[in-house]
Amino acid sequence: MTDAWSARAYGANARFVSDLGAPVVDLLAPMPGERILDLGCGDGALSVHLRDAGAEVVGVDGSADMIAAARELGLDARVMDGHALEFDGEFDAVFSNAALHWMVRPDAVIAGVARALKPGGRFVGEFGGHGNVAAIRTALIACLAEDGVAADLKDIWFFPSADEYAGRLRAGGFEVERCEIIPRPTPVPAGMRAWIETLAAPVLPKVPGDVGAFLDRVVALLAPALQDAAGNWTADYVRVRFSCVLP
Ligand code: BEZ
Repeated sequence: MTDAWSARAYGANARFVSDLGAPVVDLLAPMPGERILDLGCGDGALSVHLRDAGAEVVGVDGSADMIAAARELGLDARVMDGHALEFDGEFDAVFSNAALHWMVRPDAVIAGVARALKPGGRFVGEFGGHGNVAAIRTALIACLAEDGVAADLKDIWFFPSADEYAGRLRAGGFEVERCEIIPRPTPVPAGMRAWIETLAAPVLPKVPGDVGAFLDRVVALLAPALQDAAGNWTADYVRVRFSCVLP
């Protein structure tokens, strides 16, 4: 389990998440009686929608805190590393929203999903794609470089192009029905400093000096690009949304 993956905490930080996954749930089209794995279920907010549609849902997440919250919703939720799924041919579908970008060994994830599915099962999801938080990531990289730290942050986030991800899915044995990039600028009412402290938390241990001063510099660098004249921040989110089937 990577640090980045275990650090994921959407449930506790829902104020940073504008999309509640409705379009990708529609793409999944869960059916009553289906057994569905929610990969990176967080606090289970979306798993509940799948359950409400009549599916039998199992949620997995790398964060024990998130799984505890999901269990409070009555979900079958288990702490599990998305790179090492422990299921064998038992799901009609695997679903994932806003989680796969934390799993930086995508081929291991795809192989585990393929193992988890029944023949004919589908894998449907959405996550950060190429260009996701590009300004934020570049500002972090630039400020780390100023401090003498060379980092591309590929050890923390996986943001593939649609072509790259579709290729990985095909190499993993899937027939790709749809895989596209969707830009989604997203308001950040809590402000950019809070966003970075929370959602870029795995980056901060790389900072050699005072983290507060580092954050001040990153935020100042980002303001011209991501803050409007009224002081509102917008994060430059870009999604990959895909659906594919195991023959
Ligand atoms: C995202 O949802 O796109 C995201 C979340 C945390 C860090 C980076 C990106």
